[in-house]
Amino acid sequence: MDILVVGGGGREHAIIWKLSQSPAAGKIYCAPGNAGIAQLAECVPIGVFEFDKLTSFAKEKQVSLAVIGPDDPLAAGIVDAFEAQQIPVFGPRKNAAEIEGSKTFMKDLLHKYSIPTAAYEKFSDYESALAYLGTRELPIVIKADGLAAGKGVTVAYSRGEAELALQDIMVAKVFGEAGAQVVIEEFLAGQEMSILAFVDGETVRPMAAAQDHKPVFDGDKGPNTGGMGTYSPLPHIDEAIIREAVTTIIEPTAKAMVAEGRPFSGVLFAGLMISPDGKPKTIEFNARFGDPETQVVLPRLKSDLLEIFLAVTEGRLADIEIEWSSDAAVCVVLASEGYPGPYPKGVPISGLEEAAQGLVFHAGTARSEDGGWVTSGGRVLGVVGMGADIAEARSAAYAGAEKITFTGKQNRSDIAMKALV
Ligand code: AMP
Ligand code: GLY
Repeated sequence: MDILVVGGGGREHAIIWKLSQSPAAGKIYCAPGNAGIAQLAECVPIGVFEFDKLTSFAKEKQVSLAVIGPDDPLAAGIVDAFEAQQIPVFGPRKNAAEIEGSKTFMKDLLHKYSIPTAAYEKFSDYESALAYLGTRELPIVIKADGLAAGKGVTVAYSRGEAELALQDIMVAKVFGEAGAQVVIEEFLAGQEMSILAFVDGETVRPMAAAQDHKPVFDGDKGPNTGGMGTYSPLPHIDEAIIREAVTTIIEPTAKAMVAEGRPFSGVLFAGLMISPDGKPKTIEFNARFGDPETQVVLPRLKSDLLEIFLAVTEGRLADIEIEWSSDAAVCVVLASEGYPGPYPKGVPISGLEEAAQGLVFHAGTARSEDGGWVTSGGRVLGVVGMGADIAEARSAAYAGAEKITFTGKQNRSDIAMKALV
């Protein structure tokens, strides 16, 4: 069975790597893909928003399944476009992807169904937002409503910072329409954790829990990025808390979406905060696989990913078993100099062949004219180490990461340390 995967980052590389192990997988296409993905799939130069071209391509090649990686095309209705052409597609429709695409939608949904999340108010008028801010304690969290490439959230520790965030979103409109509304919400203290789950309507099958590292520098310093590294499982977090998050947050949310006439199908990814007394609360929902969470979760999946995708798209997730390995996985992201700000491209990469004995997922690489590897993005590679526990997996990941060199290479040196103290 031939498959089209839409996207071109480390997440899509990990998805394709896992799909290609399925006995039922035939030819895999990826639009647009990247140079690493091209080792496993045929990359086609079609952008993720070119819905007509993507569906025509899928029809011409008679693919049996399309899999959507990134958030923006999901929010723009790519699944509806594939369904309109009767092409089976893994991912939520536009009205379900809104759980990620609109924070006011998500907060109102959780509030309506009494699902644990931070207390909040929403505003579309700057003066009222400012007046409300004046009545709140610090720290306080300011969020643009729409998708803002991971930059729409400010955790403000001073009034000045909070007012500046509000001004940026509502007056200077730095996120455009995505900032037409803001959510001002209570600050939650505690440990962050992500749980990704396969969801088809009311059926929820949690994947392994993972933790990301968003700030660019060690010790969670510096600006936020798409994610500098991940690990799974989370040995320092009680299994009972993870189960509670599934039963009090993810399952009720899937039910609520069905009740709202927006059944969710695909991967529901909950960003959670565990309070010091062990209670999970929702920070956000994403309507897709995380990047780089996927790079540590899928290597721990023992079951056939293609079978799971088909079960979800055909509405029979409740009928299948999904098995996970007890092994640990750690992913260290190697980024370009300057990331998450401006960065150079085309910098030669060496050592990939030596590191490839482990798992290396490409995020931003290209081929040079002489057939070598060069950088082409902010996040360049995700090096994954596996082991019996986090300490072993972490050593393997860093051993792999050290073999790869390029001028200006930056990576955090403390990925997964929180699990070891
Ligand atoms: P988001 O883009 O919604 O995941 O937010 C980015 C980051 O901001 C999260 O990973 C948290 O570290 C932080 N954050 C968001 N909301 C809150 C909150 N209510 N309390 C504390 N931290 C938060
Ligand atoms: N790594 C965070 C995300 O994919 O949203």
